[in-house]
Amino acid sequence: MGTYQIIATAAMGLEAIVAKEVRALGYDCQVDNGKVIYRGDETAIARSNLWLRTADRVKIVVGEFKAYTFDELFERTKALPWENFLPEDAEFPVLGKSVKSKLFSISDCQALVKKAIVERLKKQYKRNTWFEETGALYRIEVSLLKDVATITIDTSGTGLHKRGYRAAQGTAPLKETMAAALIMLTNWHPDRPFVDPFCGSGTIPIEAALIGQNIAPGFNREFVSETWNWMSKTAWDEARIEAEDLAKYEQPLDITGSDIDHRMVKMAQENAFEAGFAELIQFKQMQVKDFTTTKEYGVIVGNPPYGERLGEKSEVEAMYRDMGQVFNDLETWSIYILTSNEQFEEFYGRPATKKRKLFNGFIRTDLYQYWGKRPPRNKE
Ligand SMILES: C[S@@+](CC[C@H](N)C(=O)[O-])C[C@H]1O[C@@H](n2cnc3c(N)ncnc32)[C@H](O)[C@@H]1O
Repeated sequence: MGTYQIIATAAMGLEAIVAKEVRALGYDCQVDNGKVIYRGDETAIARSNLWLRTADRVKIVVGEFKAYTFDELFERTKALPWENFLPEDAEFPVLGKSVKSKLFSISDCQALVKKAIVERLKKQYKRNTWFEETGALYRIEVSLLKDVATITIDTSGTGLHKRGYRAAQGTAPLKETMAAALIMLTNWHPDRPFVDPFCGSGTIPIEAALIGQNIAPGFNREFVSETWNWMSKTAWDEARIEAEDLAKYEQPLDITGSDIDHRMVKMAQENAFEAGFAELIQFKQMQVKDFTTTKEYGVIVGNPPYGERLGEKSEVEAMYRDMGQVFNDLETWSIYILTSNEQFEEFYGRPATKKRKLFNGFIRTDLYQYWGKRPPRNKE
């Protein structure tokens, strides 16, 4: 098994959380914009894909070098040991991006990198014809940042947010990676109640259940690097066995999702069923202003409407007011609300204990955090 430089890509603002996850898997790492960088073998690649809840993709770095001219990009790409990664029948599309670099034409960079790899492989595989590309997929990316080219191969395939449980989705579903990040930013512990009063298609409650039972989020899906001939099958098998051993399917959980829209509740139930949590998560149709509880030390994580759509604003603001009132008595509960509405605290009626800037896709939002009383020691 070789060792590789690995990149776990992260949505803007989630880098530190991805890094924490990478460290929890046992790998030292560095954090950069949009990525976390570390070294590891094929087991690390398999474990990262299976376990990282908040990363977008796991990539292998094939090479990194300065490139100010097309010639440099071509020659340095050709000098990389592509035959170690790409078999003769590999399908290898090349994607590209360029930021603050002299080589800014992405299509030219992509075409050139493709040509350089083909040249290299022709020599190594002793052929003088084009490759048919009928085999496994190796998605290559050339990313230029301040004239430094980083060339990677994607090991994930479909993005890591696709856990395999989303049969149906609502109008504004939260990305699974983002939902997991929100939960990881709270002080929730599996023996405390968890509520999402705006559950939509159920993403937050389902991610909470996966976290609560320590289930690897990628356990029920496949990854493109599993199809690669040089990738150790044992590494993948062992990583899956480890995930199975670490799952705590017996861990009781108290997770509830509710939504004003009964169609959403049905959708959330379908998704929870797909995820294997049909019995575990309680879903019900309810508007937030009817929320009551006699439980203590719970955690609420909600992604309400932001009121950005025309005609929706005043209704949403009134709902934020209602929310502030019904949550007012929950002294022992911690409440986390994600919204782009900058006046949220005014409507809600209280300043947040802490705010954290986050991007929900391209929308700038804040996670408004209202910390409740700490549970007695044996409840933590
Ligand atoms: C942004 S979506 C939540 C998406 C969800 N996180 C997901 O991943 O699918 C907001 C949800 O809040 C619900 N909603 C709107 N007003 C509500 C209210 N007053 N009480 C409870 N739910 C409400 C909507 O029906 C919608 O499903």
